[in-house]
Amino acid sequence: MAGSSSDLRPRRWWRSSAGRVVAGVATVAATAAVLVTAPGADAAASTLGAAAAQSGRYFGTAIAAGRLSNSAYTTIAAREFNMVTPENEMKPDATEPNQNQFNFSAGDQVYNWAISHGSRVRGHTLAWHGQQPGWMQSMNGSALRNAMINHIQKVMAHYQGKLAYWDVVNEAYNEDGSRRQSNLQGTGNDWIEVAFRTARAADPSTKLCYNDYNIDNWNYAKTQGVYRMVQDFKSRGVPIDCVGLQAHFTGGSSVPSNLQTTISSFAALGVDVALTEVDVTNSNTSQYSALTQACMNVARCVGITVWGVRDSDSWRSNESPLLFDGNGNKKAAYNSVLNALNAGGPTTTPTTPTGSTTSTTPTDPTTTPTTPGGGNCTATLSAGQSWGDRYNLNVSVSGSSSWTVTMNVPSPERISSTWNINATWPSSQVLIAKPNGSGNNWGVTIMTNGNWNWPSVSCSSS
Ligand code: XIL
Repeated sequence: MAGSSSDLRPRRWWRSSAGRVVAGVATVAATAAVLVTAPGADAAASTLGAAAAQSGRYFGTAIAAGRLSNSAYTTIAAREFNMVTPENEMKPDATEPNQNQFNFSAGDQVYNWAISHGSRVRGHTLAWHGQQPGWMQSMNGSALRNAMINHIQKVMAHYQGKLAYWDVVNEAYNEDGSRRQSNLQGTGNDWIEVAFRTARAADPSTKLCYNDYNIDNWNYAKTQGVYRMVQDFKSRGVPIDCVGLQAHFTGGSSVPSNLQTTISSFAALGVDVALTEVDVTNSNTSQYSALTQACMNVARCVGITVWGVRDSDSWRSNESPLLFDGNGNKKAAYNSVLNALNAGGPTTTPTTPTGSTTSTTPTDPTTTPTTPGGGNCTATLSAGQSWGDRYNLNVSVSGSSSWTVTMNVPSPERISSTWNINATWPSSQVLIAKPNGSGNNWGVTIMTNGNWNWPSVSCSSS
């Protein structure tokens, strides 16, 4: 029974990262066209992206440029996901096929598709032993070190200010927790920190991640090896913002019972954590709900990305590991994930790890909403949940079914995700929202960057 929501619990009121309930009633001068009200009990979201956004998280997928002409594929991808990782298009062999000659056409194709569908993008990946162009594979020593630095600088310059996250280094560890031998490792043990320092200088606006597989089980040597690296980087001020657990529960592996411990332990080091390439053999429903719940239970687990849309799109399609079957139908695992996202986090004290961000009560808005741009519609804002670094706003439009709402967030706040709208982005501070067929109730997640003032909105109908 695809899309069933009969067993969904109401969500929202019980969770914030510090275990507070955020009441959401704000006092603001309501104009004739822009009102601010307390939130009502709202229905469970019906897509993965919207369900994740209720808790300030994203739900993403890997997108392959070669499939963007397939409308069955793009219809699902546009509807369900609000984060996109280019499956192969931003890897070194794609972006620098010849030394110092860059090709961003496929990467741009995926990027442009994503943002034109209201999605953000995770860059993947800058420094990796895999999928290197031929010229790089045969390189070593200082020539390779310099080529890596140049690659990071040029690719990040191209996408400067555009990407939410970048996987700076991918898969640098062995199963026993030691460094993987590779031509990059051969340039010196400091190659990873050089990559991260280079990346920070190249684009300070994006979050810099280390990404790997088989680092889901807290008791596993590889997990501990990566943990010690992140701990070391944090203690020495090497810039790192996030850790990606690929979470490929295929090829014989399965979700460990201590996954949440792993996520919260990394988060406690002061980094965002994400599940970045999820797939599960035969889409086992309990494993999919367990991994979703593990993320939901940790405040700083920022989102989940599945590694493809339909089973037929998967790099491991023989294991049917994704949330849609080859015909684009929702599988049982889809519902288990959606339900876990809609249910929110724990009703009791959430597992906010030591060292992660703490919540600040959002202030009442000090920005007086602007009056509308001439139409007969009304955009009503109400507070959703909030966390240490971000808050949700629900927007309800009345008076017209053909509306355009312009939202301006005061700098340095940034809109990080939206749901139930067609979104266009003149800048990360300005959102133009139009109906996408989901009705007149929609919302945004806003990263505060220290400023909790609400955005101004104006509504016009056409
Ligand atoms: C995979 C892609 O899905 C395939 O299309 C490609 O042939 C090989 O790479 N870890 C990663 C991803 O970080 O980049 C890999 O993606 C899967 C494993």
